[in-house]
Amino acid sequence: ALPVVRTVGDLRAQVSAWHAAGKTVALVPTMGALHEGHLALVRRGRELADHVVASVFVNPTQFAPHEDFDKYPRDEAGDAAKLASAGCDLLYAPTVRSMYPEGFATSISVGGPSQGLCGFFRPQMFGGVALVVSKLFLQAQPDIAIFGEKDYQQLLVIRRFVRDLDIPVRVEGLPTVREADGLALSSRNAYLSREERERAPQLHVALVEAAAQIARGVELGIALDAARMRIAAAGFSSIDYVELRDAETLEPVDSLTRPARLLAAAWLGKARLIDNVPVPPT
Ligand code: PAJ
Repeated sequence: ALPVVRTVGDLRAQVSAWHAAGKTVALVPTMGALHEGHLALVRRGRELADHVVASVFVNPTQFAPHEDFDKYPRDEAGDAAKLASAGCDLLYAPTVRSMYPEGFATSISVGGPSQGLCGFFRPQMFGGVALVVSKLFLQAQPDIAIFGEKDYQQLLVIRRFVRDLDIPVRVEGLPTVREADGLALSSRNAYLSREERERAPQLHVALVEAAAQIARGVELGIALDAARMRIAAAGFSSIDYVELRDAETLEPVDSLTRPARLLAAAWLGKARLIDNVPVPPT
């Protein structure tokens, strides 16, 4: 069975032993309810480093009070079995109390890529992500950390605070793992009814079509409106955003002189789905 540690002391003892033996260590942070997208990160970790540590921690500081922290799916035994089969060496599953003990008083605020998109609709999120990921980096002291492009804005926020704070970890991004019909794998897909699940891939279809239109020279406003109409027609109840941004800085763009990214978030039933696709420069 996969070894599990729950304290910083036990985590550091194992990572230090690996480092002392001249081995490199990759960290894959997650909130559990693991699927093939998470496991692809673990497998990439195996390629890039000698040992892989995965963390499972549903981080309360990145959820607003009205959000789904309590309902977020949790299955530690199932997660441990999947991690072991993907080649993970160690599971770090701390408690909320140990991550945020009584009197915890520190926050991290990241500007730049945190602004707009999910940062507008979930204003608490990226501060909470930066806080927990920087804690995980300081606790585990990995050589490499691996994140998915499924959460593209999150990946850029993490790259930015790692650079700004001189954190000695190499951040690797991995392309989004999708179902056969294009839907991005997500723990929150579990919130979808069977009927909603059938409609859900239209978010990705809308982005792929709009990206192709933009690359073909269709006016940006027209391509984005068509994407919004397709998403609404598929039964999404509200659209938080559909926007074209610079792929590196996430600043708004109106011309395709550099690589861009088309990003969207929309509600289908009780699930808030996000997705994004690349738009190459023309
Ligand atoms: P979570 O949503 O569990 O995702 C953990 C990691 O898996 C993230 O890097 C995410 O981008 C990646 N991931 C999720 N679905 C993916 C998919 N379909 N393809 C590829 N990668 C995918 O993101 C978080 O947790 C948290 O915010 C966290 C970074 C752990 C901080 O709490």
